[in-house]
Amino acid sequence: MSSESTIGVGMLGLGTVGGGVARILGEGAAMLSERAGGAIQLRRALVRDLDKARAAVVARELLTTDGDAVVNDPSVNVVVEVMGGIEPARSLVLQALRGGRRVVTANKALVASHGPELMAAAREGGGSLHYEAAAAGAIPIVKAVRESLAGNHVEALLGIVNGTCNYILSEMSSGGAAFSDALADAQRLGYAEADPTSDVGGEDSAFKLALLAGLAFDSHVDVGQIHCEGITGVRAADIAMARELGMVIKLLAVARPSGSGAELRVHPAMVPAGHPLAAVHGAFNAVFVRGDAAGELMFYGQGAGMMPTASAVVADLVDACRDLRRGTSAWAPGSQGALQVVPAADSTGRFYISCRVADRPGVLASIAGAFADRSVSIETCIQKGRDADPVDLVFVTHESREGDVRAALQAIGTLDMVREVASVIRLMG
Ligand code: NAP
Ligand code: HSE
Repeated sequence: MSSESTIGVGMLGLGTVGGGVARILGEGAAMLSERAGGAIQLRRALVRDLDKARAAVVARELLTTDGDAVVNDPSVNVVVEVMGGIEPARSLVLQALRGGRRVVTANKALVASHGPELMAAAREGGGSLHYEAAAAGAIPIVKAVRESLAGNHVEALLGIVNGTCNYILSEMSSGGAAFSDALADAQRLGYAEADPTSDVGGEDSAFKLALLAGLAFDSHVDVGQIHCEGITGVRAADIAMARELGMVIKLLAVARPSGSGAELRVHPAMVPAGHPLAAVHGAFNAVFVRGDAAGELMFYGQGAGMMPTASAVVADLVDACRDLRRGTSAWAPGSQGALQVVPAADSTGRFYISCRVADRPGVLASIAGAFADRSVSIETCIQKGRDADPVDLVFVTHESREGDVRAALQAIGTLDMVREVASVIRLMG
C-alpha cells in the first residue's frame, strides 16, 4: 500500500459506540489523516435496521444488513467491530482477519472468550487485532500494559472496570437511589450492555480482567476460571454499614501473580474512604498497576459511553492504519500459554459479614465459635437493633483464608438462631 492511499474502513455496528466512531471519523477527518499518515474513509457499515434514526450522519448507501459484504469488500482495509455479542461477530471478525484485514474491536466478550482463535487468525492473515476499547472505555490501559510496561513484571493490577456498576453503586451511596432506578439510568445513558446482567453480574468486568491479565502476564486466560461476583447482592444496609466503617463499596477486578499462576477475582469490595479508588464516581473507571520497575501507576477516565469508548476505538484505528502503512503488527500476548488461575478459596483477605439473627443470649458465642473452629479471627463485631428477631450482627474478620471463611459461614447458616447470612463482602487489602 502506498503511503498516499486512503485507508478504507468497514464498520460492523453503528449503535452507541459505532455512532461515536462515525462522528469522529466525519468531524475529525483532517486531524486523523495527519495522524494516521493518510485519509481514513468509512466505506461500509453493517446494521440490523436500515431505517433506524441514528446519532451519526452516515450516507444511506454505505449501510448494509449483510456482514459478509463488509468484511469481504476489497476497498475495506480495517474492520471496526462494534456490534457486540459472540455470533455473528466472531465469524465476521475471523473472516476479516483471515482475509488479511486489521480488526479493531470494542467487544470484550468476544476477545475474552475467543482470544487465542482470533489471534491465530490474525497471524494467519498477516493482520492484527486491536482491542483498547474493550477494557475500561477511554482509558488507554491496553496500550499502557502492552507497550508502556513492556519492561516490567506486573506485580498487581486492580481496579474499577465497569461503568454501569460504578454508576449504580455511586447513585445508591450518594443519593440513596434504588438499584433498579440507577440501572435504568445507566441503560438510558448508554453505559450498559445490551443485556445488563453481564454488567451487574460481574461478567463484563471478568471479560476485561481476562484481557488485561492476559497482557500483563503474556498468557491466555480462561475467563471461566475467574472468580466472579456481581453487585446484585449489595444491600442499602451494607452501603450504610460501609459508611459507618469509613468505607465505600466498589466492584473491583483484581489480578495478582501467585506461585506459577495468578489470583484473578471480580467482586464487590469495601474500599477505605480515603483511598483514590473510593473517589471514582459515576461511570468513571480506574486501574492501578504495580510494575517491578515502574512502581505504582493509576489510570483514570470515563469507562463507558458513546464518545469515551469511540475515542479508544479511533485510537486503535489510527494505530492499525500506521501498522498497515509500515507493514507491522501489534504484539499479541500468549507466549506463556494458559495462565494457571489460583482457586478463590486459597486466597486470603479480610471480610465484612452481615448476619440476620435472633437477639438471644449465646448467639454471639455460637457464631464466634464457628469462626474459631475454622481459624477465622474476628476484628470487629457490631449489633444493629435490640430485642428483635431478626437483628443485624456484623463482623469484620482479620486476614483469613477465603475457604475457611466460607466453611465457617456454612456452619453458621445452620445455627437455629441465625435467620440468614445476608452479605459477605471483602475489604480491600
Ligand atoms: P449497540 O448500541 O447495541 O449497537 C450495536 C450495533 O450493532 C447496532 O448498530 C446494531 O444495528 C448492530 N448490530 C448488532 N447485532 C447485529 C446483527 N446481528 N446484524 C447486524 N447488525 C447488528 O451497542 P454498543 O453499546 O454500541 O456496544 C457495541 C460493542 O461495544 C459491544 O461489544 C460492547 O460491549 C462494547 N462497548 C460498549 C461500550 C458502551 O459504553 N456502550 C463501552 C465499551 C465497549 P442497529 O443499529 O440497526 O440495531
Ligand atoms: N457496559 C460496560 C460498562 C461498557 O458499563 O462498563 C464499557 O465496557
